[in-house]
Amino acid sequence: MLSEKLEGEVTEFFLPRDFDSFCIGCTNCFERSETSCPHYEKLRPITKAMDDADVIILASPVYVYHATGAMKSFLDHYGYRWMVHRPEEKMFHKQAVCISTAAGGGMKSTNKDMADSLFFWGTAKIYKYGAAVRAVAWNGINNKIKNNIEKKTDSLALKIKNNYGKVEPSVKTRLFFNIMRIVQKNGWNKADSDYWQEKGWTDKKRPWKSKE
Ligand SMILES: Cc1cc2nc3c(=O)[nH]c(=O)nc-3n(C[C@H](O)[C@H](O)[C@H](O)COP(=O)(O)O)c2cc1C
Repeated sequence: MLSEKLEGEVTEFFLPRDFDSFCIGCTNCFERSETSCPHYEKLRPITKAMDDADVIILASPVYVYHATGAMKSFLDHYGYRWMVHRPEEKMFHKQAVCISTAAGGGMKSTNKDMADSLFFWGTAKIYKYGAAVRAVAWNGINNKIKNNIEKKTDSLALKIKNNYGKVEPSVKTRLFFNIMRIVQKNGWNKADSDYWQEKGWTDKKRPWKSKE
């Protein structure tokens, strides 16, 4: 619903249909390169779509108070993109939304499951929306809740459109980035510190100042 209201080109992936691999913990992505991940090729279309997007929407139903296992497995594959490792520069210009639906509760912790990754990827602006739908399918949702969802997605779409091209990472993100900068200057993992040096981030460059 939200993606339609944004009125742009939408590339949609559905989990686990479009990605169903578990991280096997080989740590190749951290220590060598993400291209050494056994699931690199499988994940590539989603990675490319996210990198090309202006807005990323991560959505999950609440399963026992958290995001689905499929969403968790997907996000595990981007551990190497956390600021402590090798964040993707493009994220510092993007907006993202976490959406969760539950029968009754657990939206906050579910949205946090997804927002944690978005934050540590360096995403400039993150919105969260959790809806308790008191149902297990759209047809079973009562009209009052459906109307609320319409209104909330209208207002989210408006905010996102108004902020289009204007977002900058929060003070918290910039602070965290600067702490990571000191860590990378001292070099704790070669693949990461080489990356930071190439980007010029250990020096004066900052990812949110670069043009997309
Ligand atoms: C395995 C499982 C665990 C669930 N855990 C919760 C829960 O912790 N809290 C809750 O309110 N609803 C829970 N639900 C209900 C779903 O979150 C709810 O029906 C959701 O809106 C379904 O979204 P979907 O239509 O996108 O699958 C659970 C459902 C399943 C299948």
